[in-house]
Amino acid sequence: MGLNLLIICYLFGSVTFILGLKMLSNPVSARRGNLIAATGMFVAIVGTIFLYRNTETGEHLHNYTWIFGGLIIGAIIGTMAARKVKMTAMPEMVSLFNGMGGACAALISLVEFNHLSKELLAGDTITFENIRTTVLIIVLGLIIGSVSFAGSMIAWGKLNGKVKDFSFPGQNILNLLLLAVALALGAYLVMYPTHTFLLYVILALALSYGVMFVMPIGGADMPVVISLLNSFTGVAAACGGFLYDNKVMLTGGILVGAAGTLLTILMCKAMNRSLKNVLIGSFGGNAKNAATGVGEHVAYKEISLSDAAMVMSYANKVMIVPGYGLAVAQAQHACHELEKLLIEKGVEVKYAIHPVAGRMPGHMNVLLAEADVSYEKLEEMEQANDEFKATDVVLILGANDVVNPAAKNDPASPIYGMPILEVELAKTVIVNKRSMKPGYAGIENELFSQPKTSMLFGDAKKVLQDLLIEIKKV
Ligand code: TAP
Repeated sequence: MGLNLLIICYLFGSVTFILGLKMLSNPVSARRGNLIAATGMFVAIVGTIFLYRNTETGEHLHNYTWIFGGLIIGAIIGTMAARKVKMTAMPEMVSLFNGMGGACAALISLVEFNHLSKELLAGDTITFENIRTTVLIIVLGLIIGSVSFAGSMIAWGKLNGKVKDFSFPGQNILNLLLLAVALALGAYLVMYPTHTFLLYVILALALSYGVMFVMPIGGADMPVVISLLNSFTGVAAACGGFLYDNKVMLTGGILVGAAGTLLTILMCKAMNRSLKNVLIGSFGGNAKNAATGVGEHVAYKEISLSDAAMVMSYANKVMIVPGYGLAVAQAQHACHELEKLLIEKGVEVKYAIHPVAGRMPGHMNVLLAEADVSYEKLEEMEQANDEFKATDVVLILGANDVVNPAAKNDPASPIYGMPILEVELAKTVIVNKRSMKPGYAGIENELFSQPKTSMLFGDAKKVLQDLLIEIKKV
């Protein structure tokens, strides 16, 4: 009876994970989706604690002090961290939490291998042959979990500025060597599981590989790496599910693995870069630094605050394109104020959101949601591109690469092929940024010199605040 009920708990958990994940794909249902999946996880955990029974001995779990001690401490730390975290520090927290998942998977492997080798030494029920698959899963869980843990910790350090980029010639070869040796030793351990010490050598190699492979990657590429590491943690957790024959752990792990992989692919596609290019860091890293000075000699015209206020106040439709600079300036609230003021004046206002605007997935959506901008006002790239033709004014706030026409027109450009917001289709384009310096890709933007474009220089927040004053005067 207990076991049947547990299976129902696991089934409930699995269904809620799938449902939650589906709901996360829409900003309106995302919050509810998260809650539904968390409820499923809660039921699966409580079910395991109280209903689990060892199929051979019939024993229940009994070490409740340790279990609840861990749960309570973890819940307090998790809740406090989630309440305190700033929106801009979200990737850091995701990375830290993801690293903990990887560490758990690696610990499961260490503990289970210990159990197994004790049984092997006792020599009664098990033989080499029938534990090989188990050892294989243990080794895979250990390697993947450790890489994910170490890599996530470095990513976390990089995002909060404590760890600096570090690389040296031949690093990729050394990395591959570390991984190859770890895998070869893992294969050896599967064949000869009595060499217990090898497990710790594999652990050290996998941890070193995790550190070394994230070290050289540029800070702005971290979201892609975090998403990749997230998928590793999912696979490592799925190994745990195999090990314990626990269906909900297996489903959860596979879902995280698949979702992380898909997100990694989507982000690479949206930037028109291969994963190899991101991991070897040849874009936005050295190229960016070498590009200082790019764009500063491009011809452009400026618009005054009062003229910009006038043009926008008399427009029928204004599309706002937020970018990384908006996040840097923390100008989301001022931006919402501008939107409300223009709507009061009878202007239709929408936001055009590029999938990789900013520096993390959903960066602009999260930022604007923080300022209470309605989801209905946000248009995804394809939809926005259909509407630019009927738009009077596009106001670009701290965005650069995501509106660069070189992605369409210049096959030699590093961003060629990256889908962009086709703002040049609108009647007038106003670009707010602080200077003519390039964005993340380190390249010139011909949009800035087009006849219909005018530059409105200054920090996004200050410019928006001044614009509000001017528009009120119109
Ligand atoms: P960027 O191309 O990086 O351009 C941002 C612009 O904002 C800069 O040109 C900068 O110009 C301006 N800026 C900075 N601070 C500002 C401030 N306080 N006020 C006003 N403007 C300011 O940003 P984007 O257009 O959002 O494109 C995102 C880029 O990041 C893409 O290349 C994308 O591939 C990459 N990326 C994105 C992600 C994700 S998942 N979103 C992940 C990795 C990489 P000034 O210095 O002249 O002000």
